[in-house]
Amino acid sequence: MKEDIQKILAQAQKSIPSCESEKNLEELRVKYLGKKSLLSNFLTKIGTLPKEERPKIGDLLNKTKNEISQLIEQKKQELDQEKNSFQSQDIDVTMPGRPFPIGAKHPLYQIWEEIEDIFINLGFEVAEGPEIESEYYNFDALNTPSWHPARNPQDTFYLKGEMLLRTQTSPMQIRVMEKFKPPIKIISTGRCYRVDKVDPSHLPVFHQVEALLVDEGITMSDLKGALDSFVKRIFSEDTRSRFRPHFFPFTEPSAEMDILCINCKGAGCKLCKQSGWLEMGGAGMVDPAVLEEVGYDSEKYTGYAFGLGIERIAMLRYGISDIRRLITNDLRILKQFT
Ligand code: PHE
Repeated sequence: MKEDIQKILAQAQKSIPSCESEKNLEELRVKYLGKKSLLSNFLTKIGTLPKEERPKIGDLLNKTKNEISQLIEQKKQELDQEKNSFQSQDIDVTMPGRPFPIGAKHPLYQIWEEIEDIFINLGFEVAEGPEIESEYYNFDALNTPSWHPARNPQDTFYLKGEMLLRTQTSPMQIRVMEKFKPPIKIISTGRCYRVDKVDPSHLPVFHQVEALLVDEGITMSDLKGALDSFVKRIFSEDTRSRFRPHFFPFTEPSAEMDILCINCKGAGCKLCKQSGWLEMGGAGMVDPAVLEEVGYDSEKYTGYAFGLGIERIAMLRYGISDIRRLITNDLRILKQFT
């Protein structure tokens, strides 16, 4: 019996100090000291022991009980203290927590995805290509002669060898046509680079969306139709567009597309610099020389291409007049657009 009692004490000495909650402690108290506890059980059995043993065991039982009570009392104080230390720090644990700011997609990326979705809905596939390009894809294959001003190092970031940072997404026209036979119907979006001084409307790194459609019997009216439905979807149903003659080495004829100013509806305002129209980007019918370069029969196939600036679209959609706001990562500003 003596050993059994000692075992119980040893157990209690282990479990009580390591218990972690008031509830747990109460369970231990019932286990060791309660009416149905092992110790109480021994107490009722004392009468069955030989006379000379009874006082010894009785004494041991009492001491053990006291010791366990002390352990429990000590633990209780410890737990109380922990609780109080929270309170003394003036922490109201019942108060709702401070809201944790949740991240959001950058407004430019939101627009970027929206643009892709619109073209996917119009039946275009998305093609991805490298930002580090060769002179061949960025210029030569796009019918851009070596003396063309865009090729000047003052406009283009050149890397080692014949490589450069692409100045436009148009090299993707070549990469896709090189790989696939017509019909082609793709868009390609991504970062482009130009040696530009940073100002309210220029950044040396910007984003474009390029579209290319090549098939038999494609005409300029297909191009106009596609662009017109795009601007109607990205801005509003009543958006009007127009083509202005322009020049690009890789399209013929070429045009620049404008939309009627979404701010003043053509009356003339600061946004459209009193012209009533907003420039959206370049477009045109793929030059036969480009089709021939990739081995397409330019007698059989025709195509259109266009390239739009994604920052430009984002700025118009969010009413941002300074492009730099898109990259300064000032959360107070970015939050307004998400
Ligand atoms: N790549 C031209 C630019 O960056 C835009 C463009 C694309 C024009 C496709 C015509 C056709 O200015």
